Amino acid sequence: MANSLEGKIALVTGGTKGIGKAIADKLSSLGAKVIITARTKPNEEIAHYFIAGDLINPNTAQVIGEELLEKFGKVDIVVNNAGANTSPGGGYSSLTDEDWNNEIQLNLMSAVRVNKALIPAMVAQKEGVIINISTGAALQPLWKMTMSYSASKAALNAYTKALASELGPHGIRVNAVSPGLVKTPLMEAFIEDIAKKSNVTFDEAFGSIKAEIGDLPLGRMAEPEEVAELVSFLVSPEAKYITGSNYRIDGGAIPTV
Ligand SMILES: NC(=O)c1ccc[n+]([C@@H]2O[C@H](COP(=O)([O-])OP(=O)(O)OC[C@H]3O[C@@H](n4cnc5c(N)ncnc54)[C@H](OP(=O)(O)O)[C@@H]3O)[C@@H](O)[C@H]2O)c1
Repeated sequence: MANSLEGKIALVTGGTKGIGKAIADKLSSLGAKVIITARTKPNEEIAHYFIAGDLINPNTAQVIGEELLEKFGKVDIVVNNAGANTSPGGGYSSLTDEDWNNEIQLNLMSAVRVNKALIPAMVAQKEGVIINISTGAALQPLWKMTMSYSASKAALNAYTKALASELGPHGIRVNAVSPGLVKTPLMEAFIEDIAKKSNVTFDEAFGSIKAEIGDLPLGRMAEPEEVAELVSFLVSPEAKYITGSNYRIDGGAIPTV
């Protein structure tokens, strides 16, 4: 796959940290010109073109799309990675309408709007690849921890499948990638929060999450770079027959087929 993305223009939302940063760096190493977005520009120097914007705001996707197309003239790869579990745990009674709405805006509508802004350019060139970063929690919702987050990402999965069906005839592939537990700032903050609330250590809190999931055969969290490897394959020409699929990368978690 050396330099197999030469000449490609790739957008990675949430590309400043964690999984998004690893994907941006990997696509760039394969020759793509990478544009990243986030709410905050990192202090350290970044190797990619940066566009600021909060994707909870309904207008942000259009602004990002317009700046990207004006500056680079086309887009070949879109990775909708920005997302998070922003709601409190504790089940249905802990979740307000605002919590539900925030999850849906960030985890579903951000991707819907970014894609809507950029798909016409892909249709015009009869080519493109979209990856929506979902989560294993959409397939295995944990009521104590992820109810609204899981529901919003399950909606993302259904949207991914429908979009793949619509866009296949236009030469555009659309897939979801569903990581399990990945060692990122988001996941570390999530575990630290559980540890603090339960008055246990970080490792004990991680153990309690593993126990909730039921099993984690590989026994550890993924590195963000491991998720980036899968994404880089799916966006490459080598994956040209793959669309409408949802790839789990979770160390064997989720005890069902
Ligand atoms: N970590 C895991 O274990 C795991 C597992 C399954 C799925 N995922 C999914 O993988 C994706 C990335 O997660 P991560 O763990 O890498 O997260 P992370 O370390 O918190 O990084 C998130 C990235 O998204 C940006 N972002 C967050 N909220 C945003 C908003 N409202 N508007 C625009 N950008 C925003 C962040 O930058 P700013 O904060 O500056 O905006 C950052 O660049 C998410 O969709 C998450 O649901 C993660």
